[in-house]
Amino acid sequence: MARFLVTGGCGFIGSHLVDRLLAQGAQVLVLDDLSTGRQENLAAGAELMIGDIRDREAVGAAMRGVDGCFHLAAIASVDKAREAWIDTHAVNLSGTVAVFDAARSVSGRSPIPVVYASSAAVYGNPGDHLIGPISEDAPTIPLSAYGADKLGCELHARVAWGVHGIPNTGFRFFNVYGPRQDPTSPYSGVISIFAKCIAEGEAIRINGDGEQLRDFVFVGDVVSRLTAAMTMMAPAARIFNVCTGRPTSINDLATELEATFARRVERIRTPARVGDIRISIGSTARGDASFGPCATSLSEGLAQTKAWLTSKK
Ligand code: NAD
Ligand code: UD1
Repeated sequence: MARFLVTGGCGFIGSHLVDRLLAQGAQVLVLDDLSTGRQENLAAGAELMIGDIRDREAVGAAMRGVDGCFHLAAIASVDKAREAWIDTHAVNLSGTVAVFDAARSVSGRSPIPVVYASSAAVYGNPGDHLIGPISEDAPTIPLSAYGADKLGCELHARVAWGVHGIPNTGFRFFNVYGPRQDPTSPYSGVISIFAKCIAEGEAIRINGDGEQLRDFVFVGDVVSRLTAAMTMMAPAARIFNVCTGRPTSINDLATELEATFARRVERIRTPARVGDIRISIGSTARGDASFGPCATSLSEGLAQTKAWLTSKK
């Protein structure tokens, strides 16, 4: 039976990954400091080690005896990384180096393959360089500390393969959404925030003119990519977008959510967020060729998100 380590397995994406791995018959150990993740997200069949990815001993102990590591632990908010630059850097970049370090060959053991979360934030404002969905070969010019650290993770992943022989695959997630995305945190994703407001009859806040475009990808499709990448691990350091290629403006998202909840919502205009990316739409070509498409439609994904939100009440 395969045994996997999932860092950040109590979080939004990580907990869905844990569910899938258990359903596939794997053993799962989760390393999580419960800073934004919740123990209640975690399936009963998984083991939990409460610890910090910056703690080399904890990461080393967690890595012992596993066949592969899914590294998802991070402070996942662009805004939070602006406010707490040094702390988020320590988790998002140094924590990732600690994970690769522990995956190295130790006392004759083969290096442990790693699948890790990067981000579309590495591209910065692709509109500055080209029109159309952005491919993995486009320039990476992050606008945020968060994006800069994710790019740093990718550079260290190249070192992990080139110098230490650790096979790895990094995924540049675009805007992931779905059940369990924390709706109570101001640092959470826009869909979870808007959905909660609409469900509770509160106004939503649209930053700037609301015409910024995002590529929303459903968490179930993301998890399929992660597990397939571990199964099909290549002897290399590879990078893929995880996206649908479909643009949705924040204004249109609000309208789509009104349809999902069959309810109108008041829209409050607030200033544009500092460093907010204007257009973030991914090219699906490379990822779909290797793993198949992220096929869940926005309306289907929003319906599942609504079902989860309303079942919590
Ligand atoms: P999340 O906040 O729900 O999950 C992150 C998990 O990591 C949480 O369980 C948290 O407790 C844990 N964690 C944070 N710091 C830690 C530390 N120092 N040690 C141990 N555990 C720690 O966020 P998510 O949306 O599930 O994001 C998962 C990954 O995907 C992150 O790496 C994030 O940067 C990346 N990502 C997410 C999105 C998105 O749209 N949600 C997009 C691009 C990339
Ligand atoms: C998101 C992810 C980030 C990831 C990136 C990849 C979260 C919290 N962040 O960043 O981890 O790396 O995608 O593309 O999931 N907005 C509003 N009103 C609100 C909240 C947000 O108008 O109440 C706007 C924002 O200004 C932004 C858009 O909605 O233009 C999306 O914001 P957000 O969900 O925070 O995600 P990103 O910043 O794109």
